[in-house]
Amino acid sequence: MITLANLKNLKFSAALQPKTLSQICATIVVCLVATGFGTANADIIADRKAGFKRNADSMKAIAAAIGSGDYQTIINRAEGIASWANKIPSYFPEGSDSGDTKARAEIWFEFDAFKAKAKANETAARTLVTAAKSGDQGAMMAGLKNLGASCKSCHSDFKE
Ligand code: HEC
Repeated sequence: MITLANLKNLKFSAALQPKTLSQICATIVVCLVATGFGTANADIIADRKAGFKRNADSMKAIAAAIGSGDYQTIINRAEGIASWANKIPSYFPEGSDSGDTKARAEIWFEFDAFKAKAKANETAARTLVTAAKSGDQGAMMAGLKNLGASCKSCHSDFKE
């Protein structure tokens, strides 16, 4: 049954609702900015550092494997570096230059150049895979040297 009191209530809640909703929305946005994005960045920074640490391990493993003639290890490790190189750009979303990171802001000013360095790194790793498959130790040594140079080349422009 509709009474005058009910109608007044309806008007009251109709007037109140939009404001409450917008307040809730504003709170959600503030929470997202304060916690959500920060956490996401911290995760992605930790993940990319882990990826690069694996790279450093792989470079050592490859150098040892050239010496011992364990070419399958070279193939596996160099393929790992190539597939990580392919993912590097996606681990540097905009805004992930703050926090516990040595990424330089230049990455986002010159993202195409950064992507090109990742691509060169991937190509160098794949060249080393081909060398390991051929069994030519001289080509493997040269491949490892070029691969190392492609890591350094990105670091000197984009890493603190
Ligand atoms: C396209 C650019 C790029 C390439 C290619 C690249 N790196 Fe890096 N590397 C970076 C950046 C940027 C950082 C800093 C990441 C951070 O602190 O958030 C980094 C960080 C590192 C770190 C430090 C990780 C840590 O725990 O802080 C190591 C070790 C490393 N790279 C080794 C390598 C090796 C080895 C290669 C090649 C096989 C390589 N990187 C190729 C850009 C690159």
